[in-house]
Amino acid sequence: MSQLTAATAAPDQIAYLDTAAATAVGIAYKQRFVDALDVRPGHAVVDIGCGPGTDLGRLADAAQPGGLVVGVDRESRMLAEAGRRLADRPTVELREGDAHALPLADASVDRARVDRVLMHVEDPATVLAEVRRVLRPDGVFAMAEPDWDTLAVADEDVRTSRRFARFVAGRVRNPTIGRELVRLSAQAGLRVRSVEAVAVVFRDFDTADQILGLRRNSARAVAAGELTEADAQPWLQRLMAGPMLAGFTFYLVTAARP
Ligand SMILES: C[S@@+](CC[C@H](N)C(=O)[O-])C[C@H]1O[C@@H](n2cnc3c(N)ncnc32)[C@H](O)[C@@H]1O
Repeated sequence: MSQLTAATAAPDQIAYLDTAAATAVGIAYKQRFVDALDVRPGHAVVDIGCGPGTDLGRLADAAQPGGLVVGVDRESRMLAEAGRRLADRPTVELREGDAHALPLADASVDRARVDRVLMHVEDPATVLAEVRRVLRPDGVFAMAEPDWDTLAVADEDVRTSRRFARFVAGRVRNPTIGRELVRLSAQAGLRVRSVEAVAVVFRDFDTADQILGLRRNSARAVAAGELTEADAQPWLQRLMAGPMLAGFTFYLVTAARP
């Protein structure tokens, strides 16, 4: 397989999440995001769509002593991995469940968060209504979600970069969720406290390829008739040769239950 056509298969989701969390921007925004949630000792915290438990350990640390962190995910495979990683953490509890019908009692948590989950759900407004239901008064909800319509890949062939970006956004259920967080929070009866836009920037091909699927998604776009092979191949060749600059905007929003 050539370097250009390799890695066109979908990556394993857990490996993908681990890779994203280990990038410089991943490390930085996750730390800022946990700080923004302002978890204090004794808090009950829910991480909705916790995945393989990427952030459960640091949330549990912040809630000690006396706190409890509940990780909710609808995928048993994610929860099994989270269970392995958090096996030595008695203050972390894992529950299989859907964000649209959280397995939590009314007004039972002090802090709630989603990190790249609303972009995938069927009905973000229902999820926010659920969050409002489970939060205690003055409880805080933190959201970190991308806006895939801002995806830009620098290349002389701007048309192919635009088509690639449009194709990637089109594969996400809620591609513009980042810019909707303030409106959705207000509609759910939550009071927005802070909004931060993070520019995610990739400067090397391999990282951009891992996170954006430059090869994988351009091959899919060719197969779907959205790009031609004649455009995609030289585009990829130039991106591999560098210099690379690609990026998108990621929104970090916190809101409180009045
Ligand atoms: C992009 S991953 C993010 C995982 C984790 N928050 C992190 O930052 O590593 C999205 C996660 O949300 C979960 N998810 C998606 N839709 C869900 C839903 N309706 N209810 C519960 N979990 C959901 C997926 O199973 C997946 O684990």
